[in-house]
Amino acid sequence: MKTVIGLDKLRATRLSLDGIIGLVLTMGFLHEGHLSLIQRAKEECNHVIVSIFVNPTQFGVNEDLSKYPRDLERDLSLIEPLGVDLVWNPTPEIMYPTGYQTWVEVEAITRPLEGSMRPTHFKGVTTVVAKLFNAVQPHKAYFGQKDAQQAAVIRQMVRDLNFPVEINVCPTVREADGLAMSSRNKYLEGDNRKAATILFRALSAAKSAYESGERDAEALRVKMKEVLESESRAQMQYVSCADYDTLEELDVVKGKTLLSMAVLLGKTRLIDNFVLG
Ligand code: PAF
Repeated sequence: MKTVIGLDKLRATRLSLDGIIGLVLTMGFLHEGHLSLIQRAKEECNHVIVSIFVNPTQFGVNEDLSKYPRDLERDLSLIEPLGVDLVWNPTPEIMYPTGYQTWVEVEAITRPLEGSMRPTHFKGVTTVVAKLFNAVQPHKAYFGQKDAQQAAVIRQMVRDLNFPVEINVCPTVREADGLAMSSRNKYLEGDNRKAATILFRALSAAKSAYESGERDAEALRVKMKEVLESESRAQMQYVSCADYDTLEELDVVKGKTLLSMAVLLGKTRLIDNFVLG
């Protein structure tokens, strides 16, 4: 496995790889969720490239970029046994050199849910993902269902800008008690870690109601809110029952639907979702 930092080295190594190239984009501090994306890419592609870059432009002014967990050595030791061909670990200066002034912005679909809480977040995500796609030129890219809105925004960007990349969204990997894996779970300790299962429990309650025939979207939102309110440590930011593709809130559930939520536990912000239909 080769690890490169510079763009020239990345391009030279990329040119030496032929066949179907799969890209797994990460911000490091890898967990089982990332490893499952790499495994899926290995199954479907001739060569797999992993990017590790903590993208400063997707952090808001009140979000602590410097505290984002990082451990490159550990990440490389987790990736190595999976047969990854190349890891690209660019510096912020390579991605955003002095005088940088070009941005990729997707409109309506970035505004609700995460966009309502983190107004500059998706502009940073789409810009860096477009840059990573341009640099690596993958045939397929792999994202986690846990960041459902991110996946929807990237699908929209790829359609709108004609990127020749197939977007694959892979199932959320969960701890035994249902907590969705996330690099931010590292910040959850003691009672907050126990309380963090509330997201899975709230989504499960709404899903059972749906499976028992409930199709009123507001009733499903209320169900999720009631469960969240039963956990005094959890501070709800939003719950949503929306169309899977457009992310518009529904009145009546029909077709593919996204149940999603964001919750604060102490200072740790958690998101999770289930897909219905
Ligand atoms: O999902 C992430 O880890 C990031 O948002 C991504 C896609 C790597 C862009 O920085």
